[in-house]
Amino acid sequence: MKQKVYLNGEIIPREKATIDIEDRGYQFADGVYEVIAIYQGKPFKLTEHLERLVFSAAELEIECPPLEKLEQECQRYLASTDYSQQNGKIYLQLTRGVCSRTHAYPDGLESVLVMKAGPLGEKPESYFKEGVKIIIRPDERWSRCYVKSIALLPNIMAKKEAKREAAYETVMERDGFITEGSSANVFIVEKGTLITPPATNYILKGITRQTVIEDIAPQKGLEVKEESIALTRFLAADEIFLTGTTTEVMPVIQVNDKEVAKGQVGDVTQTLYQAYRQLTRSQ
Ligand SMILES: Cc1ncc(COP(=O)(O)O)c(C=O)c1O
Repeated sequence: MKQKVYLNGEIIPREKATIDIEDRGYQFADGVYEVIAIYQGKPFKLTEHLERLVFSAAELEIECPPLEKLEQECQRYLASTDYSQQNGKIYLQLTRGVCSRTHAYPDGLESVLVMKAGPLGEKPESYFKEGVKIIIRPDERWSRCYVKSIALLPNIMAKKEAKREAAYETVMERDGFITEGSSANVFIVEKGTLITPPATNYILKGITRQTVIEDIAPQKGLEVKEESIALTRFLAADEIFLTGTTTEVMPVIQVNDKEVAKGQVGDVTQTLYQAYRQLTRSQ
């Protein structure tokens, strides 16, 4: 089946979808987004993702449909795609709207809502079984990282650098403390306790992060602390893992050229990764 996309209430073939060249998303990256995983046709944590979209839009004063409407439209679009029965993901983007190019946006713009479904892009099993390498780079982003903005240049430059270094992800550091990855949150394990940087303005409050903190850790009897993590502490951790919608729960065994966590996937990470698999594949 040819893939259809959603554009402002219409579900249309991809090649028929056109965006105005004066859409502020195109000119200024003036918009917000979400990526929602679909497991066996069911969106995972749909409400949480859409609540975050509503929140991000409100932070940037972008007009946004109410949550219930977003939920209905998302389900209606999903039902029209190949992913209503299988694993996939939906990219959802809301831009401020169209106007003649000017920095200070005029009031009353009509936002533009786009959705596009695609494959989930599941990572190779070996990444989860054997762990991955990450690199550390300075966090060059703005100080409102809790907003899921489409302005992602520092993130994409960081991710590209990771690829160049044959690493899975770049984890960023600000003033000597770990913040997060270019598209994932980060945790360490110390003596069986999970530690992750607090959800300040310097990180995105990831839905997968919350799933680990609120659903999986309590279920497995694991304590979680939200604490700042200095780089030295990070490198000395018993275990390190990343979380994200497409990253899921990903063990890290190498940071730059240094082996960490004894170069092995730790027991706690493995437990969490398996529980996440179970949760997402049995919803
Ligand atoms: C910067 C950043 N941090 C964290 C995450 C993980 O968030 P989530 O678990 O909601 O996918 C993402 C996901 O895209 C991200 O871009």
